[in-house]
Amino acid sequence: MRRPPFIAFEGIDGSGKSSQVRILSDRLETAGYHVHSTSEPTNYRIGSMLRRILTGKEQADEYTIAALFLADRLDHIHHPDYGMLAKLAAGEIVITDRYYYSSYAYHSQFMEMDWVIRANSLAAQALRPDLVIFLDLAAEQSMARIQANREEIEHYEKLDNLARVRENYLKAIDLEGNRDNVVTVDAFRSVEEIAADIWSYVDTLIQTSNYPQ
Ligand code: ADP
Ligand code: TYD
Repeated sequence: MRRPPFIAFEGIDGSGKSSQVRILSDRLETAGYHVHSTSEPTNYRIGSMLRRILTGKEQADEYTIAALFLADRLDHIHHPDYGMLAKLAAGEIVITDRYYYSSYAYHSQFMEMDWVIRANSLAAQALRPDLVIFLDLAAEQSMARIQANREEIEHYEKLDNLARVRENYLKAIDLEGNRDNVVTVDAFRSVEEIAADIWSYVDTLIQTSNYPQ
């Protein structure tokens, strides 16, 4: 491998991505690796605009939203300081909470998935993940977790939306998954069981890539 591994976490809202990103980052750091964990939408300029839209503070049509997510992603890839390519070039393992499969799954509720895939080919050409971990959880389960733990329910966090998004994830993985080394992990288990599965995939990736510690 020319550079350190780049790992993306995917799944519907509440599927446990941010919990597992934290656990994996800690475990890699304990093993002596330099790790950069990050997320989309970002906390930078375009990501902040998106959060205002997602929480209903600003209005935008669905194509504008999809295009803003792509712009946020391109900035997240290419920015000279916080960009993921810069982090990989500096020798850090990069782990992102959401990447382009989120766009495939969420925006295809409103437009052709093929359009979203073609639009995101700019991102795919610039930086493909070495491993995509799809945390698969039924919409009912994720809603139960979200409602137990959160006050502000975002634009997308409604049961039938999440069920559709999950179906779209499965379709997107069917269409594109063989290009990206996507693994599906059953997320309706304990945090520890899920983390153990994830570790075995990441450990295999690191061993087979001969990436030095
Ligand atoms: P996401 O980042 O995918 O939205 P989170 O990691 O924030 O998901 O998890 C959503 C909520 O569910 C959090 O309150 C978290 O503590 C809880 N949670 C995460 N993983 C599990 C699990 N395996 N079982 C039960 N609850 C979980
Ligand atoms: P996020 O902050 O990850 O939400 P959560 O912590 O609840 O999982 O993402 C916010 C929302 O943005 C989420 O509902 C999914 C949506 N989203 C898209 O619609 N398109 C995208 O390309 C991305 C990355 C996220």
